[in-house]
Amino acid sequence: MNKFILILSVFLTGLLLTGCTLGVENDERALTVYTDRHYDTDQELFDQFTEETGIAVNVVKAGSDELINRLRTEGADTAADVFIVADAGRLHQAKENDLLQAVESDVITANVPANYRDVDNQWFGLTVRARVIVFHPDRVSEDDLSTYEDLTDPKWNGRVVVRSSANIYNQSLIASFLSINGESATRSFIAGLVANFARTPEGNDRDQAKAVMAGLADVAIMNTYYMGKMANSSDPYEVEVANALRVFFPNQDTTGTHVNISGAAVTKHSDNVAEAVAFIEFLTSPTAQALFAEANYEYPVNPDVDAAELLESWGDFIAQDIPLTDLGTFAQEATILMDEEGWN
Ligand code: FE2
Repeated sequence: MNKFILILSVFLTGLLLTGCTLGVENDERALTVYTDRHYDTDQELFDQFTEETGIAVNVVKAGSDELINRLRTEGADTAADVFIVADAGRLHQAKENDLLQAVESDVITANVPANYRDVDNQWFGLTVRARVIVFHPDRVSEDDLSTYEDLTDPKWNGRVVVRSSANIYNQSLIASFLSINGESATRSFIAGLVANFARTPEGNDRDQAKAVMAGLADVAIMNTYYMGKMANSSDPYEVEVANALRVFFPNQDTTGTHVNISGAAVTKHSDNVAEAVAFIEFLTSPTAQALFAEANYEYPVNPDVDAAELLESWGDFIAQDIPLTDLGTFAQEATILMDEEGWN
């Protein structure tokens, strides 16, 4: 009897210790992700990663500039292991501020083409989006459209909508112009565009499409994936808007359509580098890339994965051929120029 109790207690202690160890291990392996992405589908992917690996993912959401400031202030004490941001410029800024670390992973290198990752392997693209012209086919013929620059022509007076210059998507669009065309041409572009605004910028990208639908304007500059999200929205009006409007890829015969990426990086002071690398390997894998493509209507960075059917239906396009880091290099100048030229 005593022997039995002894064996039982050894067994139970063993079980308890194993449980504790596992618990501690899981906790220690948990990842903290700082992200500025605001899409529900990201959480689905994070949950899938946890299910597959047992590694928990804690998410901290805030604006990109706030997250960068936070990483700077927290220094070595930061809880963040992974930094995700929907802008190559901000990824570059984080690198320049010494907030990231280089990652050597054959898996990631195979998943992400060279033009969508940092030369020093400090950040990696996850998804691509294009900033396009969306138009109402009843009021605009595709033949009337050509370039972003053409939207400064007097024929577009009072017909153009785009959101505020405080928005990172527009800052990066203008940063790309500074990289390609230089300051003086970019300044003229901004001034000409502002002169043709149908209204003082307000709302988000979807609101620009809705303004075109409502007849407040005829063309909008906005990101591609919002057309996909609206086409599949639970709001019937958004479906109507997406079905009525058309996507145009500007600058196909000149400098290419402006694209930007969302990307991920391992923070300099991560305590869980191996787990963080595994996380980025997962996010760039075909399975995760397919979910990005299908659920959030972004172009996958992984060339083995097809874009969503709707995106495929818009056809291929030529993107701007600039180092994406230029979006960071010229971000500040872009903001100043937009402010000086009256883009609210
Ligand atoms: Fe967005």
